Amino acid sequence: MSILTLAGSPSQHSRSTALLRYAAMRLAARGLNSDELGLRDLPAIDLIEGHFDGSAARALRARVAGAQALIIATPVYKASFAGGLKAILDLLDQKALTDKIVLPVATGGSTAHLLALEYSLKPVLSALGARHILAGVYATDRQVWMGEVEVRIDADVRERLDAAVESLVRHLYATPLSQGYDLGYLALNARFSV
Ligand SMILES: Cc1cc2nc3c(=O)[nH]c(=O)nc-3n(C[C@H](O)[C@H](O)[C@H](O)COP(=O)(O)O)c2cc1C
Repeated sequence: MSILTLAGSPSQHSRSTALLRYAAMRLAARGLNSDELGLRDLPAIDLIEGHFDGSAARALRARVAGAQALIIATPVYKASFAGGLKAILDLLDQKALTDKIVLPVATGGSTAHLLALEYSLKPVLSALGARHILAGVYATDRQVWMGEVEVRIDADVRERLDAAVESLVRHLYATPLSQGYDLGYLALNARFSV
């Protein structure tokens, strides 16, 4: 079972990536490993110039092709998803997301653009062939507290992420997510361990 988590924020201490890693931990608690790929892992020049035939783009496409499910995280920038994430998606094949389960996740400064996933990201995912796009999870900055070494995610957001991961797992296996961990406090520096 291969799950790819895609972090679309350019920020080193990223709230949206924190949510992504929380979701990855929930998957791990269920025995499902995931593999993270971030905007910051890709060469900026390949993204800016759209080097579709470059080795980074080919490796990206191979990782996406090998995934049965993706969790895609983005900050809201100017009422839409981040341009850096769009630069990644631009390097994918035309129908790269066909038959993939996709869970979108976003953070924004306020609730003003909580529908950004619906009106900006989901149409692009759909154009890439995704037909199993799960209900997205949106959190505001106040709901994701970033400390020097730990992250605290509001219980409400964790609940919604748990439900979203549950839905993802159901689509993959048709069995419920196990309970039991309090993952509210996460270490920042270990791709998240409690
Ligand atoms: C250039 C820029 C534009 C932004 N535009 C919006 C916006 O239109 N709406 C919003 O709610 N937040 C906006 N924000 C706030 C970010 O979405 C928010 O801080 C988010 O949590 C950042 O996610 P990250 O830490 O994963 O990068 C903007 C932030 C930046 C830097």
